[in-house]
Amino acid sequence: MQFEPVIRTDRSGRKILLRSAEPEDAAALLRYLKETARETRFLLREPEEINLTLEQEMRFIESIRDSERDLMLLAFCDGRHIGNCSLMSFGGKSRLRHRCEVAIALYMEFCGCGIGRLMLETVLAEAKRLGFEQAELTVAAENPRAIALYESLGFAEYARLPKQAKYRDGSYSDSLWMMKQL
Ligand SMILES: CC(C)(COP(=O)(O)OP(=O)(O)OC[C@H]1O[C@@H](n2cnc3c(N)ncnc32)[C@H](O)[C@@H]1OP(=O)(O)O)[C@@H](O)C(=O)NCCC(=O)NCCS
Repeated sequence: MQFEPVIRTDRSGRKILLRSAEPEDAAALLRYLKETARETRFLLREPEEINLTLEQEMRFIESIRDSERDLMLLAFCDGRHIGNCSLMSFGGKSRLRHRCEVAIALYMEFCGCGIGRLMLETVLAEAKRLGFEQAELTVAAENPRAIALYESLGFAEYARLPKQAKYRDGSYSDSLWMMKQL
C-alpha cells in the first residue's frame, strides 16, 4: 500500500520525511540492507547474504506498494534514506487477518534520536486503521534499545525462543516474541 508522505521532527530538531517505498528506491534499499547488516548483529542476515538484484528489489517494492495491507515505510533526513519500518500481513488467510508483523532498522548513525519511535508509531497507527488487531515482532533478547522502545509502545514479551540466531564465532542468541493489541 502507499502512504501519504508526512514530515515529523526527531529529538534533535531535524525534519524527518516518512513515505512509502517506490521502485526508484531499490538501489538505496539494497545499500541499506547490506550496511545495516554490517553495522548490527541484531538483524537476520550477514551482509553478503543480501544478494537480490536491482530488478528483484524493484519488483519486491512494487508488490508491497500494490498490496492492500503491507507497507514499507522509509525515513529520510535531508534527502538521505536513513531507515525502514515495515508492516506485513500474513497473506490472505482469513484466520490470520487480525495479525500483522512489524520490523524496523535504521542506519546506526541515526539510532537513539527518537526516529525509531516516530516510525513505529506511524506504522502501528496505519495497522490499526487497516483493521489489524495485533502487531507482532521478534527481537534479539540482547537488544535492550529495541526492547525498551517496543515496551514503551505497549508491546509485551510472550515467549522467549532459544538459540534463534547462531553467529560466526559460535555463539547463539535467543529471541523474544512480542505482541501489542492495537
Ligand atoms: C532498534 C531501533 C529501531 C530503535 O530506534 P531508535 O530511533 O534508535 O530508538 P528511539 O531513539 O526512538 O528509542 C529508543 C528508546 O530506548 C531507550 N534506550 C536506548 N538505549 C537503551 C538501552 N541500552 N537500554 C534501555 N533503553 C535504551 C531510549 O532512551 C529510548 O527511549 P525513550 O524514547 O523513552 O527515551 C534502532 O536503534 C535500530 O535500528 N537499531 C539497529 C537495528 C535493530 O536493532 N533493529 C531492531 C531489530 S528487532
